[in-house]
Amino acid sequence: MKDKEGLICLLTERVNDELLKAAPKLRIAANVAVGFDNIDVAACTKRGVAATNTPGVLDETTADFAWTLMMAVARRLGEAEALARSGNWKNWDLDQLVGTDVWGKTLGIVGFGRIGRAMARRASGFHMKVIYTDAVRAAEGVEKELKVEFREMNTLLGESDFISVHVPLLPDTRGLFNGPKFHRMKPTAFLVNTSRGPVVDEAALVAALESGKIAGAGLDVYENEPFIHPGLKRANVVLAPHVASASLETRTKMACIAAENVVALFAGKRPPNILNPEVLKTS
Ligand code: GLV
Repeated sequence: MKDKEGLICLLTERVNDELLKAAPKLRIAANVAVGFDNIDVAACTKRGVAATNTPGVLDETTADFAWTLMMAVARRLGEAEALARSGNWKNWDLDQLVGTDVWGKTLGIVGFGRIGRAMARRASGFHMKVIYTDAVRAAEGVEKELKVEFREMNTLLGESDFISVHVPLLPDTRGLFNGPKFHRMKPTAFLVNTSRGPVVDEAALVAALESGKIAGAGLDVYENEPFIHPGLKRANVVLAPHVASASLETRTKMACIAAENVVALFAGKRPPNILNPEVLKTS
């Protein structure tokens, strides 16, 4: 990075003081992701480095995948696929791999931003009741249009059959799902996380799964990626390796947007997805 003026980075790269110190000529760090907890934006701002992300283009694709995990864990797809491939499937049986219905159940959405709302839209086709919680309540018009109802977190935990997490990783959301939260969930409920791993206290999740406090989980993200807590490798957990936005269409758009942010800055324009516009005044 010593003589580089622009950086296009992945969420696995930490843009922190150490990197910024080693890159004195850097003018922009363009993340190929919507989540930007890997970037110390304040440190970038201090050094006049623009930081950008890729919001908007991955909402539907990520919601599709959260839905995939929800269906997979409810209908035991991991176990079903393993059996179908194993050569050990002997016969159709009335009680073979019996799962849980998704349709008609209550979906609790934690974090009602773009992706949370995309999740809510999908639920109407499944005749689900949708409740949500967020630090900021949505406008009445949005609630009506999406047929969702606001709940305080603890109420949502107790009412939901499926909980899907769509919050950014912030100091406030780190460890948001902990032992007491799992305790409030129904023992028949499932947790789906496509946001960021550290939003869930993984040891507490394993304890909740082991003690039957919740019924299962569908996970795309982990506390210490690529490490996956061995206690999560169980039949009632569906695991994916952080691929919720991984469609060719969406990943292509994300890469292009990151490049466009860099090109804009070097053309003397405002990068469309700038996270710290205050640096533009001084650059
Ligand atoms: C992926 O995890 C993203 O934040 O875009």
